[in-house]
Amino acid sequence: MKKVTTSSLLKMKQESTKITALTAYDASFAKLFDEQGIDVLLIGDSLGMVLKGDDDTLTVSLEDIAYHTRSVRKGVERAFVVADMPFMSYSTPEQTYLSAAQLMRAGASMVKVEGGSWLLDTIKGLNERSVPVCGHLGLTPQSVHVFGGFKVQGRDDLQAERILEQAKELEQAGIQLLVLECIPSDLAAKISQSLSIPVIGIGAGAQTDGQILVMHDMFGISANYMPKFSKNYLQQTNNMREAVSQYIQEVQDGSFPSDEHSFN
Ligand code: KIV
Repeated sequence: MKKVTTSSLLKMKQESTKITALTAYDASFAKLFDEQGIDVLLIGDSLGMVLKGDDDTLTVSLEDIAYHTRSVRKGVERAFVVADMPFMSYSTPEQTYLSAAQLMRAGASMVKVEGGSWLLDTIKGLNERSVPVCGHLGLTPQSVHVFGGFKVQGRDDLQAERILEQAKELEQAGIQLLVLECIPSDLAAKISQSLSIPVIGIGAGAQTDGQILVMHDMFGISANYMPKFSKNYLQQTNNMREAVSQYIQEVQDGSFPSDEHSFN
């Protein structure tokens, strides 16, 4: 059993092997996902919505993410563990480095930050201090109040061009993984082809280098809302292990996401 690393994720992109990812927040589910062969586990600030029951991710603290990262790390043997930097935990360089150190010490192998050009120095600074970084573009939930709701991004030409440019800038600055959330499939395909680093989509069509879902959405147990881009794998399998295995298989063979779970 070889551990997933930044190098193996890059190799998967180069060999056109789809990367499978899920969010996880505790040791038991992390172990279950790891045993089924998931490649990446994200301790997402989505925990604010799916664990705490909040309307958005802004209530999540650094301590929340560190606590859940420690738990997830204990359940994982193979998967690559990424932790979200929560809202306002990377506003200044000093704060960013302290926040990242706390998450890496909790067991993350990479931290994820949401946003574009304003993060270029942040990413360089983190890399210089030996912290690998995942970018996140498109519908970045920490900006929900700027967007005026959880809305698909990049539908007009100008916005699409901007997201593509920002993806290139983030890669140039040093990110080693990129999440694209809720953007048209064509744009996500173009970005994935333009970058050398792996690109993981959620609501971004089938032509990214991999897929991620919030685990509660994949099991169809999210409290209030099932996003269009998600699929309830528990419904068709009635067994958690089989649900995860089916998700992995459908991502790997390219049948998930279908048009029904994508935007144009
Ligand atoms: O917080 C989260 O779970 C995320 C994923 C939706 C990518 O950022």
